Amino acid sequence: MSIRLEHLRKSFGPVDVLKDIHLNLPERQFITLVGPSGCGKTTLLRILAGLETASSGEIWHGDQRISDLAPGKRDIAMVFQNYALYPHMNVRDNIAYGLKVRGTPRAQIEPRVLEVARVLEIEHLLERKPKALSGGQRQRVALGRAMVRKPWLFLMDEPLSNLDAKLRVTMRGELKRFHLRLETTTVYVTHDQLEAMTMSDRIAVMDGGAVQQYATPDEVYNQPANTFVAGFIGSPPMNFLADAQLHDQHLTLPSGHGQRQRVARSPYPSADRAVLFGIRPQDIELRTQADAMSLPARVSLIQLLGSEKLIDLTWGDGATISAQVRADTELNEGQSVWCHFDPARLHLFDPSTGRNLACA
Ligand SMILES: Nc1ncnc2c1ncn2[C@@H]1O[C@H](COP(=O)(O)OP(=O)(O)O)[C@@H](O)[C@H]1O
Ligand SMILES: [Mg+2]
Repeated sequence: MSIRLEHLRKSFGPVDVLKDIHLNLPERQFITLVGPSGCGKTTLLRILAGLETASSGEIWHGDQRISDLAPGKRDIAMVFQNYALYPHMNVRDNIAYGLKVRGTPRAQIEPRVLEVARVLEIEHLLERKPKALSGGQRQRVALGRAMVRKPWLFLMDEPLSNLDAKLRVTMRGELKRFHLRLETTTVYVTHDQLEAMTMSDRIAVMDGGAVQQYATPDEVYNQPANTFVAGFIGSPPMNFLADAQLHDQHLTLPSGHGQRQRVARSPYPSADRAVLFGIRPQDIELRTQADAMSLPARVSLIQLLGSEKLIDLTWGDGATISAQVRADTELNEGQSVWCHFDPARLHLFDPSTGRNLACA
C-alpha cells in the first residue's frame, strides 16, 4: 500500500514553510527528499511522523487516513541526525529498549535484537557501551534501535551528516543494502544531492517549501524539470548561459564582438526564440581544431581532481563555463580550444520561467 501526501501545507505564523505538497510514496521504495537547508524537509518528515500537525491537507496509507492518528499509533520509526544512545546501557539494551517499553515479551526481544545485530554486523559489539564505539558503529546501533521494531515505514533525517566523508560513503552503501534486504518503505532526508542520487528509487527535489520535481535519479539528472533542479543535482554544477538563441534551426551563442556562433542543431526546428542554455561540465568536449559547430574559447584555469581535470574556459566578452575532462587530456592555461557541446546532452530552458522546454 502506498502512502499519499495530499495538498499538505504548513505555516509557522505568517511563513508558508510547505506549499501544497502532493506526493505518492510507493510501498517498499527508498524515497529521498533533497533540497537546500530551510526548504522544509524536516518539517515534512515530522508531519509524516505525527510530531508536527499540517496546517491543511491529508496523509493516507492505502485507504486509511493516518494524518489524524497520534504518533504512537502510526508505528513509524524515525532516525534523526542527532540520535542519542543511552550512555549507561550496552548495545544490546539500547537496541532492545523500544521493545521493552512497549511491553514486548522478553522471549521475543532477544531473537529480534540478534537478528538486527546480524543484519547490521554489530553482533560482536552487543556488550559494549556507546562510548567504546566508533561513530559509524554508533550510527548502526541507532539504526538497529529503529529497525528492531519492524516498522512499516522508516523516516530518516540526515542520519549520515555527522559522520566524516569516508564513513558517509561506506554507510551510504550499507543503508542501501539494508533497504534491499528489509524492503521497508523509507523516506530519507538529505541536503546532499549525491546521497540522493546513489541511494534512491525516487527523489523529490524541494526548494522553497515546494516539490520542484519528483522522479527517478536518472530522470532528475538527465531531464531536470527546471533550472533549480538542473543546478542542484550533479557536480560540478551545470553551466548556464542566458544569452542563447534558437535561430534558423540552430542553437547560437554569443562569441564576442557582437558575433554569434552556431553550436548545435536546434531540437525545436520551428521556433526562433531566446533560451537559457544549460550544459554539464562532463558534456563538453574540448577540441584543438575549429569546426562548424564549436565555440572558440581560452583555457583560463586548470584544476586537477585526480582522475579528471576541471577546466575553466573564457571567451568572447568574458563569458565563462567549466568543463570536466580526463586527467590525461593535454591542456595548458592560456591555450585556445574549441568547445563542442554534445547535442544529445544539452538542456534548454525558458528564460522567464526556468522550465525545461523538453518538459513543456
Ligand atoms: N517550529 C518552527 N517555528 C517557526 N519556524 C520554523 C519551525 N520549524 C521550522 N521552521 C522554519 O521552516 C523552514 C523549514 O525548516 P526545516 O523543515 O527544518 O527545513 P530543512 O529541514 O529543509 O532544512 C525554515 O525556514 C525554518 O526556519
Ligand atoms: Mg532539516
